Amino acid sequence: MSRTRTAMLAALALVAGGTGTALVAVPAGAAATAVPCTVDYEIQNDWGSGFTAAVTVTNNGAAKSAWSVKWSYAGNQKVTNSWNARVTQSGADVTAANESYNGTLATGGSASFGFQGTYSGTNAVPATFTLDGVTCNVDDGGTGGGGGGTGGGGGDGGGTGGGGGTGSRVDNPYAGAKVYVNPEWSAKAAAEPGGTRVSNQPTGVWLDRIAAIGGVNGGMGLRDHLDAALAQKGSGEEVVQLVVYDLPGRDCAALASNGELGPTEIDKYKTQFIDPIAAILSDPKYASLRIVTTIEIDSLPNLVTNTGSRATATAACDTMKANGNYVKGVGYALAKLGAIPNVYNYVDAGHHGWLGWDDNFGPSADLFKQAATSEGATVDDVAGFITNTANYSALKENNFTVDDTVNGTSVRQSKWVDWNRYVDELSYAQAFRDKLVSVGFNSNIGMLIDTSRNGWGGSARPAGPGAKTSVDTYVDGGRYDRRIHIGNWCNQSGAGLGERPQASPAAGIDAYVWMKPPGESDGSSSAIANDEGKGFDRMCDPTYTGNARNGNSMSGALPNAPLSGHWFSAQFQQLMQNAYPPLS
Ligand code: GLC
Repeated sequence: MSRTRTAMLAALALVAGGTGTALVAVPAGAAATAVPCTVDYEIQNDWGSGFTAAVTVTNNGAAKSAWSVKWSYAGNQKVTNSWNARVTQSGADVTAANESYNGTLATGGSASFGFQGTYSGTNAVPATFTLDGVTCNVDDGGTGGGGGGTGGGGGDGGGTGGGGGTGSRVDNPYAGAKVYVNPEWSAKAAAEPGGTRVSNQPTGVWLDRIAAIGGVNGGMGLRDHLDAALAQKGSGEEVVQLVVYDLPGRDCAALASNGELGPTEIDKYKTQFIDPIAAILSDPKYASLRIVTTIEIDSLPNLVTNTGSRATATAACDTMKANGNYVKGVGYALAKLGAIPNVYNYVDAGHHGWLGWDDNFGPSADLFKQAATSEGATVDDVAGFITNTANYSALKENNFTVDDTVNGTSVRQSKWVDWNRYVDELSYAQAFRDKLVSVGFNSNIGMLIDTSRNGWGGSARPAGPGAKTSVDTYVDGGRYDRRIHIGNWCNQSGAGLGERPQASPAAGIDAYVWMKPPGESDGSSSAIANDEGKGFDRMCDPTYTGNARNGNSMSGALPNAPLSGHWFSAQFQQLMQNAYPPLS
């Protein structure tokens, strides 16, 4: 389905003689030096109402320090967002100008960029391109074969990979790599007032149901994302972040993200979800990508904290513990996906406000080890763990530490900390990494921390420590995390975007990531009929007074939220407003 056209631009040859010059079109295949530039425009995915395209421009003229490529559409195509070029559009006319980092174009050098667009009707490749105002003729005859050679993405086979296909993983896939910007999330973010400040950030691609593999409601499927990632990759390294999230009896301690598979449907999970994903990821075409998978958030932690005689237990979690299908599903996913040399599995490890207590910390590490050695998996299938996925726990509380005391009383006795061993995500993730190594995971595992919504900036952010009247005034006055209770998880009021995604930010941490796409709801504020298996969880209802899992506190949720995973404009606006570090 990929269409491509190599435009032998302008084929401009100077013919000396007489009193003037003449412009002569040079046919494709003529001496390359006579062709000032080449544009390869490739439609990579086209889902009927939208598309992604990769463009490579090669300059055969004098070296440039800035460039712009222009074309006009014959149809109603509209570019919605782009990467590696600043693309603007006026009517049918499109201009793609270099970013600050790729303006240099040597003689013989090329630059690649990509974009996403919408359209209705036809989506023809433009007939004509210009480079820096030089109007160029397109040679329509015989140039079709030229597209493959220019490496716009479609031509990237297994042979061009750096690291892929060799069977050896790098220690930290994020080091020295770009991370895939999901064009669908990017377009939603960019459509919000002020959203272009963050719409070029990488976010996770959620495979949250079987249909997501092929694409839901005409949207991009897994292959579409991987093809778009190849286009974004260019000649560097590229990480693609996937969330694998469809276990039988999913989300056993809540209702908002219940899934499509019943508690016993482990075989369906294996054959209709994991196997098809593995088949796509092992396509040699994608061997040059570094594919990061977040494995089944919330599942194993729920078996530790929400089962048995605990006050927080639920019948659904007891069922999933008894039938073993969370452990089997995670083991199977790790084994299948871990067999693919360029896949990096990161298992979900809750967050400090969940597993940070002594009763949960060690038992969770043991359960993770059990899952990672079941169904054919080994610890070698685990690249690391991810904490705080889709949660709100602050990265670093600077105004107090777990070792502080007030009038001889430990902050661990404050209502907020409540005997937890950790007060923030960074200290938890680092300590949990050590614990996991101690129970048998490889010593080079790395942690990811989801910082998508844990910024807690804005006017409510404390400027310094709280008053030393009591441990409660001290902790509550100083903590960045403004939640009513640390067990609150749904569309938290007052939250902001956290640290921007970055590689190797701290010891033991492979990356800060935005695995949860900011602006996507955690759950609806009231019941909404749907065909996604989603339930209504009152933790998403701002009037709810809570349950055992949040200390019977108010939910702290924003009102008027849509179903989990659906775009929640008001939340996105608040996340930008309360971003920390702030947005400029
Ligand atoms: C929630 C939803 C899921 C969605 C994800 C990302 O977990 O249940 O469908 O993909 O959030 O927003």
